[in-house]
Amino acid sequence: MEKSPLGPFELDTLYHGDALDLLPLIPGGSIDLIVTDPPFAIDFRAQRLNYNRTGANVLEGYAEIAPDEYGSFTSRWLREAFRVLSDSGSIYLFSGWNRLRDVLCGIDSAGFHTINHLIWKYQFGVFTRKKYVTSHYHILFAVKDPHDYTFNKMEHYPEDVWVINREYWKGKKKTPTKLPGEIVRKILFYSSNPGDIVLDPFLGSGTVAAVCRENGRHYLGFELVEDYYRFASERISNDKSLAMRKKCQGMPGKKKRTDHENAEGEI
Ligand SMILES: C[S@@+](CC[C@H](N)C(=O)[O-])C[C@H]1O[C@@H](n2cnc3c(N)ncnc32)[C@H](O)[C@@H]1O
Repeated sequence: MEKSPLGPFELDTLYHGDALDLLPLIPGGSIDLIVTDPPFAIDFRAQRLNYNRTGANVLEGYAEIAPDEYGSFTSRWLREAFRVLSDSGSIYLFSGWNRLRDVLCGIDSAGFHTINHLIWKYQFGVFTRKKYVTSHYHILFAVKDPHDYTFNKMEHYPEDVWVINREYWKGKKKTPTKLPGEIVRKILFYSSNPGDIVLDPFLGSGTVAAVCRENGRHYLGFELVEDYYRFASERISNDKSLAMRKKCQGMPGKKKRTDHENAEGEI
């Protein structure tokens, strides 16, 4: 039998368990891209209504990290993330603003070079009475080697603020947070190629794995909460039509030049 490039893990498989225990088992240099939104150390009970007004449809059990442990948790998993990435590998890490300091420190101390600090602007920020409604996340795009990483420039003028709507999952069971497929697709097209191996150590509903499968990327993923792990696994295996389409599809074409694109200079 052929040996898996992922050591004890099979390609295109999701695992139930703690990322802090499972990451050290991945062979060094075996992953091309990590796309993940880890727990943010915030209270998601308040955010359950983000996607849909029916809280009863949201699966219980979201595993959060205590605020005073967030820094060490983040540094631990980011050190492993750095080790498992290939020399030309990249990471896209989603973060809320409240623990951003820990995330930025963890990225630096693991040895990554930050290439972009992207802002994702979404709709459905949670209503507030005495402060502004938070309607953005940070996405840190960082690499191991700033001179050697995948960047398939899909647009002439790719800006670092992404306005992408969350998706409605009306009437369906769901986990309390879920990335839109569109944002994961954009990351995959820019920073990976068909056949690359993509890791999400904090799967939630499994969006990263599902979009990888749809677009001909290999995936590996971990999730601590058993119900979420089952939800993600069922989502992947139920999607037979996607399984048939392992080839990269729907790459956005080059857009017409806009006024912005006449700006001079490049970094
Ligand atoms: C923000 S959610 C991910 C959402 C996901 N991107 C999606 O689209 O559905 C973070 C997930 O990490 C899981 N988690 C928390 N601590 C973990 C750990 N130590 N190992 C693995 N998963 C963990 C949580 O249960 C939660 O499902």
